[in-house]
Amino acid sequence: MVSYKDLGLVNTREMFAKAVKGGYAIPAYNFSNMEQLQAIIQACVETKSPVILQVSKGARSYASPILLRWMARGAVEYAHELGCDIPIALHLDHGGDFEIAKDCIDNGFSSIMIDGSALPYDENVALTKKVVEYAHKFDVTVEGELGVLAGVEDEVSAEQSHYTKPEEVQDFVQKTGVDSLAISIGTSHGRMKFTPEQCTRNADGVLIPPPLAFDILHEIEKKLPGFPIVLHGSSSVPIEYVRMIEQYGGKIPDSVGIPEEQLREAAKSAVCKINIDSDGRLAMTALVRKVLTEHPDEFDPRKYLGPAREELKKMYAHKNKDVLGSAGKA
Ligand code: G3H
Ligand code: 13P
Ligand code: ZN
Repeated sequence: MVSYKDLGLVNTREMFAKAVKGGYAIPAYNFSNMEQLQAIIQACVETKSPVILQVSKGARSYASPILLRWMARGAVEYAHELGCDIPIALHLDHGGDFEIAKDCIDNGFSSIMIDGSALPYDENVALTKKVVEYAHKFDVTVEGELGVLAGVEDEVSAEQSHYTKPEEVQDFVQKTGVDSLAISIGTSHGRMKFTPEQCTRNADGVLIPPPLAFDILHEIEKKLPGFPIVLHGSSSVPIEYVRMIEQYGGKIPDSVGIPEEQLREAAKSAVCKINIDSDGRLAMTALVRKVLTEHPDEFDPRKYLGPAREELKKMYAHKNKDVLGSAGKA
């Protein structure tokens, strides 16, 4: 058993309490390699933001659980070396069963998502409760989910989203004892959050998505005053990265994300954790494609991963400062 406390990590309890009170959201950035982790830590230290390092099941097996544990420990030391001891949590994203949740708790994770959102309600309650009971013995915090997001989450994919039912949230939180709740109000995973038919187009032909269901978010807030709410699928899919990828040979048609103003609006409410993965993938891919296209003779990975890391850092710093509002809150 390796406790996250011995790795210098923190759980999400205090981060969330401060974020809900302060009207901002903690960034939860997915990572699976060193350059992403460096960019996240550099940006969060520079902007003095708390951060949740988020790892999916797929990312965990890609990086190796043992390497990941020491990468998280390294991230704590790295932040210290850069001059700011920001709060850092290590979080399992979309844990699908009790076994993976337990394995992560036993191996240094400070926070766990157990995602029973695709199960019938009573089974979701039972699974989530079981994970909470185990996690809380070690002071690990747990995120549950109600409602279904469209898109791909690890191996689980859903064609259609189902908004969270506000009438279920109190019962779910009370029965399971979760520390935070992920909800579905119109976001979805990946780079195509809406079909072109669901969007309008502006004068430049850019897709404009329909707004998030803020009415549902506000109803949930009323049912659970001050309770931490989580938004998944919150990448903005910046048009400049989509265009850069296509300019340098990629093909990613119909890409559309959640506008930053709407995320800023959500962060001012009970939403205190915002999950971003796809934007990191887009920024990195855009820069790698650009460098390799402009320098076809280049074969030193540092020469293309370095600029990708720099762009990632810029993007995360911007999100902390201008979208989530977490800058200066560490
Ligand atoms: O919610 C899904 C995340 O973007 C994780 O994606 O399973 O491909 O690592 P992944
Ligand atoms: P995006 O695909 O919008 O980045 O969502 C990431 C996410 O929700 C991870 O859990
Ligand atoms: Zn997610």
